[in-house]
Amino acid sequence: MGPQCPNYRHLSLTLALLKPDITKMPYSLQHVRQMIIEKGFVIVKSNIISKMSRCKAEAFYEEHSSRFFYNRLVTYMSSGSVHAHILALPCNSVDDSNAITTWRKLMGPTKVMKTRYSEPDTIRGTFGLSDTRNCSHGSDSLETAKREIEFFFPDFDPIGFSGSLEEKELLRKHRDNLLTINQCKFVHS
Ligand code: CMP
Repeated sequence: MGPQCPNYRHLSLTLALLKPDITKMPYSLQHVRQMIIEKGFVIVKSNIISKMSRCKAEAFYEEHSSRFFYNRLVTYMSSGSVHAHILALPCNSVDDSNAITTWRKLMGPTKVMKTRYSEPDTIRGTFGLSDTRNCSHGSDSLETAKREIEFFFPDFDPIGFSGSLEEKELLRKHRDNLLTINQCKFVHS
């Protein structure tokens, strides 16, 4: 096995949210899901929230509570369906932020109007409507990813997942091209 085919030992994880502007557009949602799969992500868990409570939206974005857009943001996030996904990418010990950086690159920058011109092939560049209604969210660090995954998946232990049989099985299937996707729940097995 040469450098072209590294022997990945772990899955790096991130939290991805698909926001109400994208989840209510079936064609756009399908397109975004296809972009996720084509990037090679393993979808470890999905939680389709038909309507996020305002209280939950406020708690999730608490760090932005003093910003001018906070009220607009939590009103929007609690206006419709939010899809939460734990996305994974194979990694070795030196690139355990792989899923975080790859998902953020696929989303594109927050400021949609600029992103439409600077990075039109990204999710936000293609589908974003405004700085608030910007399609998606992604964790920005390993620490944040752990906290945000636990926020939306309280039964999932990101630390325990590392080295678990579940991780090994997903890695093996990813390597051998044996992963199957449940299109309805949007989760790999
Ligand atoms: P997200 O990546 O989920 O992180 C914080 C969110 O706040 C961001 O995406 C946008 O939805 C929203 N946001 C950030 N900056 C602005 C802004 N200048 N005006 C309105 N909404 C914003």
